[in-house]
Amino acid sequence: MNARILVVDDEQSMLEFLEVLLREEGYETATARSVAEGRERWAEGDFHLVLCDLIMPDGSGLELLEEIRSQESSASVIMMTAYTSTKSAIEAMKLGAYDYLSKPFDVDEIKLTIQKAIEKTALVDENVYLRRELEGKYKFSNIIGRSRRMQEIFALVERVARTSSTILLEGESGTGKELIARAIHYAGPRAKHRFLSVNCGALPEALLESELFGHKRGAFTGAIAEKKGLFQAAHRGTLLLDEVGEMTPPMQVKLLRALQEKKIRQVGSNVEQPVDARIIAATNRDLRQLTQSGEFREDLYYRINVIPIRVPPLRQRREDVPLLVDFFVQKYSREMDIEPPRVSVEALKLLESYLWPGNVRELENVIERALALTTSDTLTSEDIPTHLLHQGASTLPTIDLPEEGLDLEVHLDDMRRELMGQALDRSSGVQTQAAELVGMSFRSFRYYAKKAGLTKDQRPEEVIES
Ligand SMILES: Nc1ncnc2c1ncn2[C@@H]1O[C@H](COP(=O)(O)OP(=O)(O)OP(=O)(O)O)[C@@H](O)[C@H]1O
Ligand SMILES: [Mg+2]
Repeated sequence: MNARILVVDDEQSMLEFLEVLLREEGYETATARSVAEGRERWAEGDFHLVLCDLIMPDGSGLELLEEIRSQESSASVIMMTAYTSTKSAIEAMKLGAYDYLSKPFDVDEIKLTIQKAIEKTALVDENVYLRRELEGKYKFSNIIGRSRRMQEIFALVERVARTSSTILLEGESGTGKELIARAIHYAGPRAKHRFLSVNCGALPEALLESELFGHKRGAFTGAIAEKKGLFQAAHRGTLLLDEVGEMTPPMQVKLLRALQEKKIRQVGSNVEQPVDARIIAATNRDLRQLTQSGEFREDLYYRINVIPIRVPPLRQRREDVPLLVDFFVQKYSREMDIEPPRVSVEALKLLESYLWPGNVRELENVIERALALTTSDTLTSEDIPTHLLHQGASTLPTIDLPEEGLDLEVHLDDMRRELMGQALDRSSGVQTQAAELVGMSFRSFRYYAKKAGLTKDQRPEEVIES
């Protein structure tokens, strides 16, 4: 595509001269003979460059320059004038002019300046383009994350959105489980229907039952009218069962039946109704462990754990912190109607090193609070709550040195064994994954695991040398 140039000058002969010159160079041109006309032409076309006279009968070219610069445009502006004055040249540069040319022109100079200005515009455009590309890649609409683990989750979300399989979202509080559940709903064919969610831990058993399945009129005291349950209301849509680990055993039985038979029965009714709601269950507890301790039914666990998605805590994907900070700074600046402040390097480092026990929700709150309180155009460490400053970067639980002292090497061995064991559990015994969880190479993981008696039989694929 040819670059488009707008020439604004009140002198007809100058316009003609430049038009011929620019067309010969292969540019597309438009002309205007006053500030007002320049403004009109500018508004009509998508220009890469504006050549603008400084003094015109109806005003100063600097006005036009200022207007163009105040808009979100990558176009360069070159000012021209017959009266060379350093003062106006400096002013033009300050206002964001790309360059300043004095009449009469040296033809080679003007060609070169224009060429460079257009190259710069192209670069700026490309940058904007690249940034948009990145955004598209790292964002699942409003879910931010460039870390490998979040990227994997985005890919999974896309794949499962097309299906109706039950999903189990596991992750600490504030990691974005609900956000992901919504993304799954809205990325698939169920998006036209409703997304409903219920916190299974917040309601007493009887109430939860009537919430989920509805009730007939008179089913219990206070049931003055028939009520639809969430399963029915989310028909052909999605139902998020949040904090599913908090369900009481009798409710677990009822849920299991509903999932197995895809039918529900309203409280106080003996008629079964078919339902088609996609179920997404979420929990911040370790459901597998709850089945081992007998608090959660194993059969229900298998029923809902069809496609597990484990959302990692923020401290395990620190590379997402800067993106999230930027996202929330933009979001809350918009809400508060303020210019988005910059974030100082120190502040960002601090945010990156913090452990975020409350995960993304906590980060969001910290940014919102900082924006509400700051009066400066830069967020610094001072705008960040002090408890973040005082927390060490360590993730270890503190232990006290026993009276009699201890053998540090033995103790470290014990800790290594413990954490590697946990990693193996979490990755269902797959050593390559477990090694990654504790930041070890597969080889040293295998070595230490064997030494510590964590693994006995090696699976064939794990014997392959890396
Ligand atoms: N990756 C992300 N990008 C942007 N915002 C996020 C992201 N993850 C979480 N959030 C925001 O953080 C907040 C908490 O997220 P959400 O409610 O989904 O967490 P949760 O895992 O369901 O937490 P809980 O277990 O406490 O219910 C929300 O405001 C959400 O928009
Ligand atoms: Mg939630």
